[in-house]
Amino acid sequence: MEKIAVIGGAGYIGSHVCKLLKQSGYSPVVFDNLSTGHRRLVRWGEFFKGDLGSISDLLRFFKKHKVRAVMHFSAFAYVGESVDNPAKYYLNNVANTINLLNAMRNAGVNRFVFSSSCAVYGEPVALPMRENMPFNPISPYGRTKKIVEEMLVDYNAAYGLKFTALRYFNAAGADPDGETGELHCPETHLIPLVLDAAAGRRPYIKVFGGNYKTPDGTCLRDYVHVADLAQAHLLALRCLERGEGGGAFNLGNGNGFSVLEVIEMAEKVTGLKIPVKMVPRRAGDPAALVASSLRIQRNLGWKPQYNSLETIIRHAWAWHRKIR
Ligand code: UFG
Repeated sequence: MEKIAVIGGAGYIGSHVCKLLKQSGYSPVVFDNLSTGHRRLVRWGEFFKGDLGSISDLLRFFKKHKVRAVMHFSAFAYVGESVDNPAKYYLNNVANTINLLNAMRNAGVNRFVFSSSCAVYGEPVALPMRENMPFNPISPYGRTKKIVEEMLVDYNAAYGLKFTALRYFNAAGADPDGETGELHCPETHLIPLVLDAAAGRRPYIKVFGGNYKTPDGTCLRDYVHVADLAQAHLLALRCLERGEGGGAFNLGNGNGFSVLEVIEMAEKVTGLKIPVKMVPRRAGDPAALVASSLRIQRNLGWKPQYNSLETIIRHAWAWHRKIR
């Protein structure tokens, strides 16, 4: 079986990708320092405890495992924290990624799937958002993703690194079989916090801003099921294996749901009342982020299977009840 390095495979999206890789006949090898990942989510392949800040860990890893490709999920992803502590973000998301790319070159591995983000675009100039929109990130987090995407273009030109950058919109949901799911600490994402409020673990859900220029005044986001994200990684890998460089692709469903619509759907799914408190806007939140994913649908044949918000929240709720 072909080995695939899954950097950050003990995390939310990485663990779903490991499961799919295993089911698809690959042998995932997880490289993770467990700073935010969880050992118990490494269930579909070997585990290597390593830190991208350590060149010797990387050398040992690539010596031990002859991998065919690398998928990189190991970034910090709290937008607000990146504003307060940009050094932490540039160090891990940029400098450590350079270590990884250099270790790959050293080992002769030239296929790379990168977890990018819609945060590279900043405030959208048009909706739905397409890949040819200009990069204009408004947070250090978004800038780290932009920098890495630009580096990948240069590495491709100079060293023949074949890569695909997948720009996630709002990753949500959980494994439909309930074997893995979201487990962030601290949790900042809307859906798990809404489910916490439904279960009575928080007194209410704060809604950040009710005066945006959107139909109900709250922000619109494009929620995309984590299992569909995983599928996109598999397609990207196969494309690289065919010798094609993939480029960059948006991953979303093309539908924007407001914060209040998410809460309403969570009430329907859980059958529980969710108390809401309107609070001021959170800094750095664009009013609406909605993807056009036509490029990946056309070029790689991506077809999201779980594109209803109800299914996304139902799977998140099943996982939530299992782990809390
Ligand atoms: N929200 C609330 N209350 C909360 C949490 C969130 O109202 O307690 C709102 C936010 O203001 C936003 C929406 O719910 O409008 C979704 O917020 P999340 O924090 O779940 O997700 P973001 O849209 O902020 O972040 C996502 C990814 C980031 C990525 C970003 C790009 O999680 O990694 O999109 O803008 F950078």
